[in-house]
Amino acid sequence: MNFQPASAAPPLQTLVVGGGMITEEVVLPTILQQKRLGKIAGVWIASRRAATIQRLQKIFPNEFQGFPDPATTDSEASHPEAFREAVQLLPKPGLVIVATPDHLHTPVILAAVEAGHHVIVQKPLCLKVAEAHQIADAARAKAAYVLTDYHKRHDPAIRGAKYKFGQGELGQMLHGHAWIEERREIPLKYFANWCDKSSPFEYIGVHYVDAYHFITGLKPRRVAAFGQKKLLPKHGKDAFDAVQAVVEWEDGSVLWVQTSWVCSEHNSALTNQGLQLLGTDGEYWADHKARNCHFVTQKSGYEDYNPNFFKTFDSWDPAEAIDVTGYGYLSIVQGIDDVIHLVRETAGLAEADASRRRQELLKWWEPKRASPSQALLGTAVNEAVRLSLANNNKYVGFDAKMFPQLL
Ligand SMILES: NC(=O)c1ccc[n+]([C@@H]2O[C@H](COP(=O)([O-])OP(=O)(O)OC[C@H]3O[C@@H](n4cnc5c(N)ncnc54)[C@H](O)[C@@H]3O)[C@@H](O)[C@H]2O)c1
Repeated sequence: MNFQPASAAPPLQTLVVGGGMITEEVVLPTILQQKRLGKIAGVWIASRRAATIQRLQKIFPNEFQGFPDPATTDSEASHPEAFREAVQLLPKPGLVIVATPDHLHTPVILAAVEAGHHVIVQKPLCLKVAEAHQIADAARAKAAYVLTDYHKRHDPAIRGAKYKFGQGELGQMLHGHAWIEERREIPLKYFANWCDKSSPFEYIGVHYVDAYHFITGLKPRRVAAFGQKKLLPKHGKDAFDAVQAVVEWEDGSVLWVQTSWVCSEHNSALTNQGLQLLGTDGEYWADHKARNCHFVTQKSGYEDYNPNFFKTFDSWDPAEAIDVTGYGYLSIVQGIDDVIHLVRETAGLAEADASRRRQELLKWWEPKRASPSQALLGTAVNEAVRLSLANNNKYVGFDAKMFPQLL
């Protein structure tokens, strides 16, 4: 099927909701580069507090419009509903990028879809299966694009595993081991307000659940989880230091996922991470932290440097100082390019025809994207892990709609 643009369409208007770590370090640099490349017309940011907007305005001066407006709002007052006004005011064609804490994605996605915008949401899609279905239903009704930013799908080290598995070179899956562990600054500093509402499994372990599904196409069958609370309670947080889960898949293969967010603050990278897979005809082994590249500097000491995730480089463009790129960039750009494609394909059509055309395109992409029905699996495993933890590590299975059930 060949989808050539039917006609030119105006560039996108983007609204980023949530002005935290990922917005500052990845989302905004990506969006502003895409703006420079002519794909995006306007950039808006909505966060809870005007102080967050002010902080971002200092880092990215004159680049975006902020909600709540620091010029007219008390900088420390909390406005958890300010994003609704921004969603309503955002001109079409609109793309809303959701970067709120894990447990606060759903209301933003639903408001954006309801207002007729498309969405990219930071992983995980949400924390509850019921919410994932609500999002999928809303997106279907509006023929809206909702992509979960599972950026590991764009890591060449993961794409390689998917390709080789697809070629049959690993044979049938037997088992795998994934590890992803971050420094303690994440719950103690960055997520100090919400670390007890999520966990290292829900926040980052889910990347490898999604990666296993992405590589193999398999669905999870049952889960048992374990968790420890030893360090964070001493810092006044009722949050897990570490969570491990064993996930059995529909073919009987098993993935062990080991997660934490209390690694030493002296760790040589924010994230320890990697994946090992064994199949009947071959194995895959990848350290996704140690990419055989490090710096030692007076400023920062020893650093393991992952050139593949999201990094700033000298620009090839003589008119620009820097470029950003990496799998964290490409994952968001995939969503931007898809939405531009949808907008071009439907430019000038009456809404009923445009909606039909969007449905066709969404169906066409479905096997290749972290759409709501694919991202549902990570959400289902997240919820199953919570249920197992709350029930003495019991096995949790899934019903036909992926609702977790104690076994
Ligand atoms: N793709 C990745 O690898 C990656 C990495 C880090 C974080 N994330 C995900 O991105 C999301 C955000 O993470 P973060 O690191 O930026 O967290 P953060 O805590 O640093 O930032 C969250 C931001 O959302 C804002 N917020 C909270 N409630 C809001 C509301 N009602 N309206 C508007 N803004 C609101 C907070 O004030 C804060 O600015 C999380 O879901 C996280 O799991 C993804």
